[in-house]
Amino acid sequence: MKKQHNVIIECIQGDITSQADITAIVNAANAQLEMGGGVAGAIHNAAGPGLVEECRPLAPIRPGETVITGGHRLPNRYVIHCLGPVYGIDKPEDQLLTDCYRNALRLAEQYKIDSIAFPAISTGAFGYPFEAAAKLVFKTLKEVIPALQYVNKIRFILHNYSDLEIYNTQYFKFISNKNDPEKK
Ligand code: APR
Repeated sequence: MKKQHNVIIECIQGDITSQADITAIVNAANAQLEMGGGVAGAIHNAAGPGLVEECRPLAPIRPGETVITGGHRLPNRYVIHCLGPVYGIDKPEDQLLTDCYRNALRLAEQYKIDSIAFPAISTGAFGYPFEAAAKLVFKTLKEVIPALQYVNKIRFILHNYSDLEIYNTQYFKFISNKNDPEKK
């Protein structure tokens, strides 16, 4: 754990629905903002039917788009729903995945949210290669973090240990500036 521009960044192994100390969690949603499996299934299961009701008028969303709802029975005040790109289908997938992280943080700022937890969007059912997605996450963070005013903690929740190791590798490159193409 380390501060970058006064923002604490954490990478941990865990479940996105068990982050009680975080104000907003991010959903790897489907376009209809329905239950689904993976992250979306876990979030809707924990939040209860009120979340489906609140989501209905907000759907459908496009790849890269984000919307915000309450957390209902989750311990979190908000859920920010992102539709990641389906790898190989929604193009350009790198731009669309970047848009998810950028738009989620933009919404968090708009709602004056102090802490946010992300899953690894698009890397499950949507098939985005994990390491490429992780690199994109930290590249986007580097661009966005200096402008954050309200968000002071960003936590990445990885479902298994090997995914956590990939994030940790990218995180250490990020804090040592090695993923900055301008900086050799
Ligand atoms: N907490 C944290 N991470 C999780 C959890 C969880 N409870 N469950 C799964 N993951 C991890 C997966 O291992 C994967 O790395 O989250 C990542 C994203 O996986 P998905 O949930 O499948 O999300 P995505 O690839 O964006 O696909 C979204 O899947 O279930 C459907 O309805 C959903 O259509 C949507 C699609």
